[in-house]
Amino acid sequence: SAHENCEPFITDYLCRYKNYNFLIEKVTAEYIDSLQSFEIRDSDIFLVTYPKSGTIWTQQIIISICELSGGLNEYPNNYYHMPWLEYTEGQKDYSLRPSPRLFASHLIPTLMPPGLKDKKTKIIYVMRNPKDNIVSYYHFSGDLTDMETPKSFDWFLEEYLKGNVLASSWFDHIREWHSKKDQYNILFLTYEDMILDLKTAVTKICRFLGKNLSEEAIEQVVEKSTFKTMKKDSKANYEFLPKERFRGNFMRKGNVIGDWKNIFTVAQSERVDKVLQEKLGDLSLKFIWE
Ligand code: A3P
Repeated sequence: SAHENCEPFITDYLCRYKNYNFLIEKVTAEYIDSLQSFEIRDSDIFLVTYPKSGTIWTQQIIISICELSGGLNEYPNNYYHMPWLEYTEGQKDYSLRPSPRLFASHLIPTLMPPGLKDKKTKIIYVMRNPKDNIVSYYHFSGDLTDMETPKSFDWFLEEYLKGNVLASSWFDHIREWHSKKDQYNILFLTYEDMILDLKTAVTKICRFLGKNLSEEAIEQVVEKSTFKTMKKDSKANYEFLPKERFRGNFMRKGNVIGDWKNIFTVAQSERVDKVLQEKLGDLSLKFIWE
């Protein structure tokens, strides 16, 4: 099968291709290569994240903004509305899709369609503080049958720090996108921004997308994107995924910053601080930690 040219296998679940870890069977090398000639439209909107950084949340915000500003086509759920660029499962020919096309992706810049560098197409990049990201990822890994169930939190932490997870290293992802930001038309947001002030985050996204929404429409987007609403919204919360593949919940805990304190030991926390300093210390990134 196609994943044979996607080597080496990192674990039973992951294979490495072009410096990035994919889920075996979910993707082919040919398809990833084909993204290098993927035709971008100026009106496309990309949402890029490292996994567990608030992807489906931001997806709901972007879709709601586009819907409320009119003229959007109906899709059965947010996954169909904003498909993952790198997954071929259930994929249709995107060149036939009416504009504006929305895409989500966890890819790094080198794997993305080069047309994005024309800087017309808009990219929204959401990041989350790594400790909460690790906790969310740890729970998620146990829930998805395509991924390895962590042997323990400590074991998972080491795999994460080594980048032996889907989408590879959080640190590389952040570095790649931040250091190449001048090549793209990109808006950076954090999960923490969104938790602390959803309305301001929604307004920022609106403005970036050039959508003129009334105050009332903005309030509506906020309402559609709260944790509480999304938990009940089966088009948005990924409950539509087949149960045999996913036993868990994308809407796990939400609404909290600093959940990591409930699970990290002091030593584990210091270990992450150290790696963070080593790997990203020079980027002077500002995180809202708590
Ligand atoms: P937790 O596991 O910490 O609860 P992703 O969509 O990138 O996989 O990220 C999932 C994380 O985003 C989960 O974090 C989930 O609870 C959180 N999330 C999803 N929708 C949210 C919302 N509307 N408000 C706050 N957090 C949300």
